[in-house]
Amino acid sequence: KGKSKTVWVCSECGYSSGQWWGYCQSCQKAGTMKQFSPGVESNGTGKVSGFEFSENVARAWLPQNSADTVPIRLADVNRGVSPLDWRIPLSGLFGAEVGRVLGGGLVPGSLVLVGGDPGIGKSTLLLQTAAIIAEGHAMGGTAPVVYVSGEESIEQIGNRADRMKIGATELFLYSSTDIKDILDKARPLSPRALVIDSIQTVYLQGVTGSAGSISQVRECTSALLRFAKTTNVPVLLAGHVTKSGDIAGPRVLEHIVDVVLYMEGEKCSSHRLLRSVKNRFGTTDELGVFEMSHSGLQAVSNPSEMFLSEEYSDSEILAGLAVAVIMDGSRAFLIEIQALCIAGSPIARQVNGVQASRADMIISVLMKQAGLKLQENGIFLNVVSGVSLSETAGDLSVAAAICSSFLEFPIPRGVAFIGEIGLGGELRMVPGMEKRASTLAKLGYKNCVVPELAEKFLSTLDLEGMQILACRDLKEMINTVF
Ligand code: TYD
Ligand code: MG
Repeated sequence: KGKSKTVWVCSECGYSSGQWWGYCQSCQKAGTMKQFSPGVESNGTGKVSGFEFSENVARAWLPQNSADTVPIRLADVNRGVSPLDWRIPLSGLFGAEVGRVLGGGLVPGSLVLVGGDPGIGKSTLLLQTAAIIAEGHAMGGTAPVVYVSGEESIEQIGNRADRMKIGATELFLYSSTDIKDILDKARPLSPRALVIDSIQTVYLQGVTGSAGSISQVRECTSALLRFAKTTNVPVLLAGHVTKSGDIAGPRVLEHIVDVVLYMEGEKCSSHRLLRSVKNRFGTTDELGVFEMSHSGLQAVSNPSEMFLSEEYSDSEILAGLAVAVIMDGSRAFLIEIQALCIAGSPIARQVNGVQASRADMIISVLMKQAGLKLQENGIFLNVVSGVSLSETAGDLSVAAAICSSFLEFPIPRGVAFIGEIGLGGELRMVPGMEKRASTLAKLGYKNCVVPELAEKFLSTLDLEGMQILACRDLKEMINTVF
């Protein structure tokens, strides 16, 4: 009989500890350690289900019945096709975009998590991907793919597929929340891939907690990992991210799965970004760009359209706007900084989303080192959509926005800024230069202003034609852009 011990799990990153801490020892977030009482029911194999989790996962690839197996000579090991050599190709424009984010196709036997906010389009993405794999144009024929939903009935999925004009004959739909039932039903079909939508709605018998609880999410994922590794069937999971850092959120799963893709987008925009944040079989620098249409997701082959499709033309761009690239963990994304300089009201100074002391410093440096006569101006700063700029990498964008408003010279579309500003007005390097620059390039930006030192760093990257404008200091930046 298993011994019951209390475990504390970080709701933010999934770190677990036998002891309570006021802040997480792994991600340093405060107040995120939640008590978790493990399930100790025996599942018949003498193994304790519930929280003996890391051990389960570490050994997930082991045959479940160890009595049948013996050590095998290295030369006699049937390696099959090396996972790094062969991937399931995804055809079509949409498939190519998804495949690229996956690192060049879907690796057989891999466990892929697609995370994102509810309503962002995970089910849509997975249904389309399932259909492409089932049709298998690039593989010379159709093969079964099983799409399991714990959220929708098969009629609902069927209707959705009709709207998206999906007609894959070998796409099987199933509605279930019981992992054992799902795997029992999927196995006889020998599918080319299995999709589970979503991990929060499925449960494993014998594990304590309801579907979506941390124990269920973890145990179900490890069961699916075992299925994927033993059958070589790739499994794609949808996972909801909750803003509150839900204990059963995909953060917990990131450690277990092979590949983590995040889907993101703005509320008011139909564009969706698919980002790889973890990939055992490829790089994590890939970014897929899609547009949600009435008939599903479409790959955006030329992302600069995203910026040119705005209602106003180049002549109507406002002065005082500059684009910065900020990092969120390993992810880079763009924010717009707005500045408004008003002559003759020297007292007013309001900043929103930028640290006040940082803004003061940048304004002072602009006056002293770049010779801008800002003394007579009231200055307002704002970061669009309420994001806060907590990185010095945004300094240059703040300075550029102020210059743009002060000089009443709009910064052309397709220009972005990366860099920290020193007290001498010099531009300094920031971490993640490559990732920031390649995100901009992927999104169709044409020019990127960076510190002089960054130029040789970036010269080795394929920036899809984006020009790097290296500047030593603020004066040079002003001469280059304005
Ligand atoms: P969905 O894939 O259900 O999101 P998730 O699984 O991440 O919760 O898609 C959510 C939204 O996408 C929904 O509001 C409707 C919209 N949508 C379209 O605009 N076009 C389509 O063809 C489909 C299928 C959905
Ligand atoms: Mg869904």
